[in-house]
Amino acid sequence: MINWKKQYNTGVKKIDNQHMKLLQLLNIMNGSDIIRYNEEKINVVIQDLIDYTNYHFTTEEDIMIKYDYPGYEKHRKEHVTFVKSIGDHINRSRNIGIVLISSLSTYIGEWIIDHLLGTDQEFAEYLRSVDAVETHES
Ligand SMILES: [Fe+2]
Ligand SMILES: [Fe+2]
Repeated sequence: MINWKKQYNTGVKKIDNQHMKLLQLLNIMNGSDIIRYNEEKINVVIQDLIDYTNYHFTTEEDIMIKYDYPGYEKHRKEHVTFVKSIGDHINRSRNIGIVLISSLSTYIGEWIIDHLLGTDQEFAEYLRSVDAVETHES
């Protein structure tokens, strides 16, 4: 279970809300063990997280383009690599069960926290430096 911490805030309301939702979906995935969930349901939970992750990355990348963010390519590459590695992770495991859920959610959780404390904060700092309208929303 990952709880929201103050240092996760980027100061960009839209992005913070999406990060909170991402962690929520991750916590749901974490709690979906094979005893209570059948394989089909687990697949839905995983797919929900992947879909929302893609939606979130698109949101960030659209804002980067809007403000000519110089770190766009590097940041986007991190997103692309992450989505691909989730796919690889799932493909490596033939049966969706406890092992996959716990190792997958650990991997995703660590990546998200690391990314939002580093790469996303750098991006937010840039948005503040150009006085982007997104940093004024509350
Ligand atoms: Fe993000
Ligand atoms: Fe990001």
